Amino acid sequence: MAAVATRLASLSGFDPALDALRLEAAASGFLFLDRLVSEWRSGTNRFEQPGEVLVGAYVNDVLAGVGGLNCDPYEPNASIGRVRHLYVAASFRRQGIGSDLLEAIIGHASNFYQAVRLRTDTKTAGEFYLRHGFSAVDHIWATHVKQMKAGRAPSIQAAVGHNLARPSLSS
Ligand SMILES: CC(C)(COP(=O)(O)OP(=O)(O)OC[C@H]1O[C@@H](n2cnc3c(N)ncnc32)[C@H](O)[C@@H]1OP(=O)(O)O)[C@@H](O)C(=O)NCCC(=O)NCCS
Repeated sequence: MAAVATRLASLSGFDPALDALRLEAAASGFLFLDRLVSEWRSGTNRFEQPGEVLVGAYVNDVLAGVGGLNCDPYEPNASIGRVRHLYVAASFRRQGIGSDLLEAIIGHASNFYQAVRLRTDTKTAGEFYLRHGFSAVDHIWATHVKQMKAGRAPSIQAAVGHNLARPSLSS
């Protein structure tokens, strides 16, 4: 549980505060929130397919972080979920907010998917996901994978498929 009082909420409508988070993220080189906002606005991805969710973390009603779960668009197997766009504002980091967001996403995923995976290219995030029980994998569409406890989980190899060269895409 986060060291600060944090309220998690499923974002079913667009929270304008996402724009402030997006600008902060972009200024430090994380462009995936630009994608989140533009895909939300265009309707391409509003995290509204079965099993999907977009979660916001609020501290004193300030949006401190966000993270999403999609049915993995890079995998035809609908039993694999993908953690997307996890971001905690710099001033709120190392207080457990990212962990609360990720645990909420994992808990939700366990009702729908046999495994979740993601792609990150930062050491910090890599450490963070390992801390949460993900395994590092070398795959075209994923750097980390976690099997769900409840499901009829496939092996990690089945979840990540063939070991192919990795393109330079972010999560
Ligand atoms: C990765 C991120 C979401 C973590 O959020 P957070 O709220 O700071 O994470 P937590 O406070 O819950 O950290 C949990 C654990 O993860 C690990 N961790 C988190 N940040 C770390 C860092 N900078 N270096 C090493 N380990 C780290 C630690 O084990 C930490 O536990 P501890 O604080 O008791 O040592 C946040 O740093 C972030 O938004 N980074 C920029 C965007 C990004 O990389 N997103 C991931 C895209 S896939």
